[in-house]
Amino acid sequence: MTSTAAADGVGSVRPATSSAESGQAEVAAAAGGGRPMAGRTVVVTGASAGIGAAAVRQLVGLGARVVLLGRCPRKAAAVAAATGATPLVADFARLAEVRRVAAELLELCPRIDVLVNNAGGVFPRRVVTEDGNELTFQVNHLAGFLLTGLLLPRLRETAGSRVVVTSSLINPLGRIDLDDLDRSRRRYHQFAAYADSKLANILFARELARRTAPGHPTAAAVHPGLVITEFGRDSWFVRTFYGRPLRLFGARSAAGGAAPLVRLASRPDPAAVNGAYLHRFRRRERVLVGRQARDPELARRLWEVSAELVGLDGLDI
Ligand SMILES: NC(=O)c1ccc[n+]([C@@H]2O[C@H](COP(=O)([O-])OP(=O)(O)OC[C@H]3O[C@@H](n4cnc5c(N)ncnc54)[C@H](OP(=O)(O)O)[C@@H]3O)[C@@H](O)[C@H]2O)c1
Repeated sequence: MTSTAAADGVGSVRPATSSAESGQAEVAAAAGGGRPMAGRTVVVTGASAGIGAAAVRQLVGLGARVVLLGRCPRKAAAVAAATGATPLVADFARLAEVRRVAAELLELCPRIDVLVNNAGGVFPRRVVTEDGNELTFQVNHLAGFLLTGLLLPRLRETAGSRVVVTSSLINPLGRIDLDDLDRSRRRYHQFAAYADSKLANILFARELARRTAPGHPTAAAVHPGLVITEFGRDSWFVRTFYGRPLRLFGARSAAGGAAPLVRLASRPDPAAVNGAYLHRFRRRERVLVGRQARDPELARRLWEVSAELVGLDGLDI
């Protein structure tokens, strides 16, 4: 992102200067060209910046009707104006806002073909939300879990529907402790909390896939690559030691980071990757996946505890 773009907060939706930069060519080629998503509705969270905003641009280019969710109304409106998507706003630090926006989505969308759970961040200090959860765990995992649960009836009505979750390469450093999900017993460290949440993303996708198989929605988690975005804006440490070295080591543009998400959203065979974790476009079962991410019992228990925490424990799935 350019410094100008960073200043206006919507840098990732500035006009792309080439098809390579926009990621559009890669996505269109993978999708077989044309407008393969015409008639489909896609909901993208964390779409007011970075990877999510770039995904919105690409999905609209493939013909999809896109509803984007952002935390900041100004930024969400700017992405919508630049792409033709429909903006909605919710702060995932407040589960009441997730419930409200889910109701708005059900009102707005007679079908939901794809839900991309992409919102996320890394937070330097331990904060407990008004819902009683540690902020990283809530924004990066619980809010998407709740949103998915509330949209499930509509996803189930839509044939071929799927859920895509943006996880991370950092997942093997995570360690889920079901007795300390709010990190009140362990010393808080931003990277550890972030890694736990990205591990939770994989467990969530796996368990959703298991619970819905052989029907729909299908689910997959994906690492988008190392991508230059606004990621880490809340953390001096991340901005300094992640952002600048990334630029030196050739990290991808937001458009390049969005391409694997868009591929999952548009591929004609979602069942082929149901429950999978992908490192960009490649499925990974052992390397680059933490041991806990392969534990089906942990996935089941995390689902149950998450459902209790967000008040979805009566969910029929
Ligand atoms: N960048 C990388 O190298 C990388 C690598 C692996 C995984 N990821 C994952 O990719 C996803 C997107 O990150 P990014 O790199 O595109 O970062 P980004 O530019 O910071 O975008 C993050 C998005 O999440 C939204 N968000 C943050 N906190 C929120 C909250 N409380 N409620 C609602 N929305 C919230 C942001 O909204 P606002 O703009 O309003 O703050 C923004 O739209 C994240 O899940 C991240 O973990 C990124």
